[in-house]
Amino acid sequence: MNTHLTLNTGYKIPTLGLGTWNSPGNDVPEAVEYAILKAGYRHIDCASIYGNQKQIGTAFKKVFSSDGIKREEVFVTSKLWNTDHNPKKVLAACKQTLKDLQLEYLNLYLIHWGIAFKPSAHHKLNAKGEVMTEPVSIRETWRAMELLIAEGLVRSIGVSNFTLPMLVDLQTYAKIMPAMNQVELHPYLSQNGLLKYCHNHKIAVTGYSPLGTAGTIGPGQPLLLEDPTILNIAKAHKRTPAQIVLHWGINRGTVVLPKSTSASRISENAKVFDFKLSAKEIKAIDALNRNHRFVNPLGWGIDYFG
Ligand code: A2P
Repeated sequence: MNTHLTLNTGYKIPTLGLGTWNSPGNDVPEAVEYAILKAGYRHIDCASIYGNQKQIGTAFKKVFSSDGIKREEVFVTSKLWNTDHNPKKVLAACKQTLKDLQLEYLNLYLIHWGIAFKPSAHHKLNAKGEVMTEPVSIRETWRAMELLIAEGLVRSIGVSNFTLPMLVDLQTYAKIMPAMNQVELHPYLSQNGLLKYCHNHKIAVTGYSPLGTAGTIGPGQPLLLEDPTILNIAKAHKRTPAQIVLHWGINRGTVVLPKSTSASRISENAKVFDFKLSAKEIKAIDALNRNHRFVNPLGWGIDYFG
């Protein structure tokens, strides 16, 4: 079990990070502080669209100005929102994120989704009921992302929610190859083909919603943490279902980002390195794949993943 992966830029990324999507602004500073200072997390995943970066920034300020932990010890990721793809906006968006997070640089900056929205389009649809896109190619946005490295504002760049053909296209013109593709990954959506491609091309993969959102997204969704196979394996190891699926994710060479604002769960989710699943157990979890997406932005009026 790797505690770190080495990115194609040479920088190391911890395989366990704290997710902050849906972490309420009021709770997130305490959660981030607890994760770093008490639970041993060295990786925090953020995004401007989560609307809580300012609050996370107050936690970073406090943590990094104390004697204990230095900025260099924590890996921080953030993401460029869809309304900021225009190359003229990328630098300003990144600077705003740095200001909000009270940081001098990001370890990793990702294009959050491979689609450019009109700046005014957030949550607004056109007459066809589709989100209003802007004619900006990923190529233009990627070039602006590459310049952020030259500016010293970010150490590595990558993408999120990119499908395999989108990566193939990006690789045809990228001067700096993407270091990361962050996508939804858990036993119900294992994305083996995408993972194999990324690993063959030295693109690391991070799994968001590794707990299958624990049933928080919409009614009628399958409950990964109550899956009988996961429950049986958890029982056999005297572990929780969350620990089993996180261990499975790290064991297959990915980074996992469990989100929680509860101290006990933040601690629980970090205790995943001190046990081993058998080959048979891993095979049983692999077999749970049902290509089920919990996170699909259907509210945009287009089927992004097709
Ligand atoms: P909470 O923040 O109240 O702890 P994912 O990371 O897959 O998106 O899942 C996030 C959801 O899972 C949140 O609702 C979070 O709730 C919940 N969660 C986080 N850790 C655990 C855990 N160890 N056991 C059960 N639910 C968890």
